[in-house]
Amino acid sequence: MAKTIFTSLSPNTQEDDYKLARKLLFKSNQFEDGADIEELRKWFSEKMKVDHVTLYESARTGLFFLLKELGIGGGDEVIVQAFTCVASVNPIKWTGAKPRYVDIDTGTFNIDINDLQNKINSKTKAILVQHTFGYPAEIDKILEFAKSNDLYVIEDCAHTIGGEYQGKILGSFGDGAIFSLGRDKGISASFGGVVVVKRKLLGQKLIGQERFLSFPAKSWVRRQLAYTVTSYLTRKYYNSFVIGKLIHQSSFGLKFVNRSTELVEKVKGSFPTHAKCRIPSALARVALNQLQKLDKLNSVRVEFSKYYQHNLRRIPGTRLPKWHLYKRIYPLRFPLLVERRDEFVKFMDSNGVLVGDWYDVPVAPKEVNLLSASYQLGSCPNAEAACQRVVNLPLNVNMSENGVKRVAELTRVFFEERR
Ligand SMILES: Cc1ncc(COP(=O)(O)O)c(C=O)c1O
Repeated sequence: MAKTIFTSLSPNTQEDDYKLARKLLFKSNQFEDGADIEELRKWFSEKMKVDHVTLYESARTGLFFLLKELGIGGGDEVIVQAFTCVASVNPIKWTGAKPRYVDIDTGTFNIDINDLQNKINSKTKAILVQHTFGYPAEIDKILEFAKSNDLYVIEDCAHTIGGEYQGKILGSFGDGAIFSLGRDKGISASFGGVVVVKRKLLGQKLIGQERFLSFPAKSWVRRQLAYTVTSYLTRKYYNSFVIGKLIHQSSFGLKFVNRSTELVEKVKGSFPTHAKCRIPSALARVALNQLQKLDKLNSVRVEFSKYYQHNLRRIPGTRLPKWHLYKRIYPLRFPLLVERRDEFVKFMDSNGVLVGDWYDVPVAPKEVNLLSASYQLGSCPNAEAACQRVVNLPLNVNMSENGVKRVAELTRVFFEERR
């Protein structure tokens, strides 16, 4: 059987990242403060052309501090799209504010501008704009809307680093932006988050505050490095008897690694144990190693996306995203709306392709308590409909050209020949 293709499990981790993480795992002196942190800050500062960059152990922590420094708190509301991840919703709650959900355009999985008007009121203070799957939201129209309603705009760039909208880099449009260095993101250090802002005073406040944050527990940092190691080994040995699966299960079972979202975040919307910390040097080092390869990673993913777009046209029972892959639009995963999803997922699985599930519920992952996330079922019908039908085809940079062809061919076979 051909090698299993993964959509998830840190798909962009390669042998050099694995070796680096393995080395760092045994060098406990590199866990905290180090030159890598400043180097990572400089990288984002130059890429984003801003003076103020702050670095955290996760983007959710970064978003929390950014919202707080914008003065958002109890009694306020922040607009966020449905079809999102609880890690971008909880920080709103942590400030004391309430998330208010806006529906999506099912062609792009981004904010539906028409629904914005329905969702704002006198308590609304900001719009969190997600560039879902790395495809840019209509940020120019959102900015215009925000300006006329006196609202802050924060870009959620968790799914993109380096992508552009109308020739301008994503993350440079609003009052601030967050980037994630987490698992399954454009580059991955297993965990890590970045905030960039343009305004001097806001930037100075964030930088001043970052200095006083502590580093996460060493045991937690070790688990993140271990994740880079075990996810790589799991993928490498997945088809060697049971070795890969055993590595995966035992690494979680024996708690060498942890889940990316803790149970308290999903069920109660509370802070995870690692929250409100700075990025440790070891994770900054892993991120920097991946950033060197960013252009290559982005260009491979865009080529694979174009392949799917071209080769999956007009397949009955499926709908392609309405994406225009202009220059410098870099998808992270390829969403496809399908009929008979469960059957399709099983079929792909049995043929060695593990498709992704972003997002099969309006606030993912599945265990999230929607009540605690303040999501009311029925409030965003387009998002809810998309959640019922979406699958993510892999844009795994470790997949060969034959791999992408296999994924497309299997999709075609399922919908055309097994009707
Ligand atoms: C859309 C979106 N926003 C924000 C986040 C938060 O990122 P992090 O995991 O670095 O806290 C995530 C990832 O979990 C995400 O998918």
